[in-house]
Amino acid sequence: MPVTAVVGTQYGDEGKGRIIDFLAGNSDLVIRFQGGNNAGHTVVNDKGRFHLHLIPSGVFNPKSTNLIGTGVVVNPEALLKEIEELELSGIDTSGILVSNRAHMLLPHHRVLDGIEEESRGSDSIGTTKQGIGPAYRDKTGRNGVRIGDLKHIDYLKSRLELQLQQVNQVLSNFGEPLVEIDSLLEQCVNWSAKLSDRIAEPIPLIKDAVESNQRILLEGQLGSMKDLDWGTYPYVTSSNPTAAFASVGSGVPYQHINDVVGVTKAYQTSVGEGPFPGELLDQIGDKLRDIGKEYGVTTGRPRRTGWYDSVAVQHSIWLNGMTSIAITKLDVLDTFEEIKICNSYQLPDGDIINYVPDTPVLEKVTPLFETWRGWKQPTTHVRRWEDLPQEARNYLERLQELAGIPIGYVSVGAEREAMFAV
Ligand code: GDP
Ligand code: IMO
Ligand code: MG
Repeated sequence: MPVTAVVGTQYGDEGKGRIIDFLAGNSDLVIRFQGGNNAGHTVVNDKGRFHLHLIPSGVFNPKSTNLIGTGVVVNPEALLKEIEELELSGIDTSGILVSNRAHMLLPHHRVLDGIEEESRGSDSIGTTKQGIGPAYRDKTGRNGVRIGDLKHIDYLKSRLELQLQQVNQVLSNFGEPLVEIDSLLEQCVNWSAKLSDRIAEPIPLIKDAVESNQRILLEGQLGSMKDLDWGTYPYVTSSNPTAAFASVGSGVPYQHINDVVGVTKAYQTSVGEGPFPGELLDQIGDKLRDIGKEYGVTTGRPRRTGWYDSVAVQHSIWLNGMTSIAITKLDVLDTFEEIKICNSYQLPDGDIINYVPDTPVLEKVTPLFETWRGWKQPTTHVRRWEDLPQEARNYLERLQELAGIPIGYVSVGAEREAMFAV
């Protein structure tokens, strides 16, 4: 049985949540493998309109188990709030589990994210200020505390003491109030009571799923261009949203991941600072933002917009070993006279390249575009490739040609049914 990883090919917000909601109808186990509640995945289906941050977008399939994987940093307060909101909407949350090895994102991580961003001044990254960077820093610095520690309060106390030694030093350098261990521990005891039943030992669960041929979906957060190693460093997140990390962050051996779907918007958007070749700072960019409703789910920030950047998408296809792409938000282009595709970058010395160079060079490239005729008619009702306007098929065929892998799905509206397999 294939294990499918679903990842973003651009700068985030490609529509991963809606693709996972669609594919999860056929899945037994959905595992989110990295990130935290910096994510905002929107799902619109027969049960309503939902914004998910930590909980895998497979939660609407009552038959699937939804595991928040080891590679995720979990803010327990945010998780409990999200579970409560789903329950208020009548969604069955009994299948939501958290890996005991996922690290805990604590209130002081958010405080640190805020003050560190401020101290960067004009060099700020534009983070979501949810504490993602500081939480991963404690993890890799071996000062982290993990969700499973909530079941061993004495152990947790000693781990927190260690973490707070350093955290309080930083807070005091910034002149911020220090964290009191007793009140933090009290919060942890409260989270422990509410989350204990959901804390899972992941390997037996995953091994059983793989050995009994269950269908497994691995859910990424953000896009490959914000990958810690391969994105526009330092304007990136603090984990790896690329498919290679899906194995580490979930616990599914990499040989089993034989299907990698790259979710790809028919144009592109980015939130936060850093290079974004071809950014549209004109009326066309505003039009894409307005029609595409391009505002952050977690922060509400207006997203930066641009035409489809095939160089960035090809970078992601290679890195992720993608087997197909899913094109989303095609309908957003319905009213455009002309649609452009960036197919290469020009360096300041005139050389033309078709790979993504490192940040200091990427900041200086001039994107080169080809122009395609728009279809100027609605596509939201379309459910078959043959029913797309000829110009839309031309555009998609060109994207497929540039990608070098097949387009597996096309979406033409936010609702679950507004998409089709190609
Ligand atoms: P994610 O973070 O990759 O899951 O993407 P987001 O949910 O943050 O952003 C995608 C936005 O586009 C959400 O508001 C979706 O409801 C919406 N959306 C997804 N697919 C389509 C589509 O095909 N057409 C339109 N018009 N909206 C879509
Ligand atoms: P989804 O999953 C868009 C961006 C931030 C910033 C960088 C680092 O919905 O695609 P962080 O808070 O992770 O330290 O911020 O990453 N960013 C996102 N942009 N969608 C997201 O999630 C994002 N999560 C983080 O804007 O540039
Ligand atoms: Mg999003």
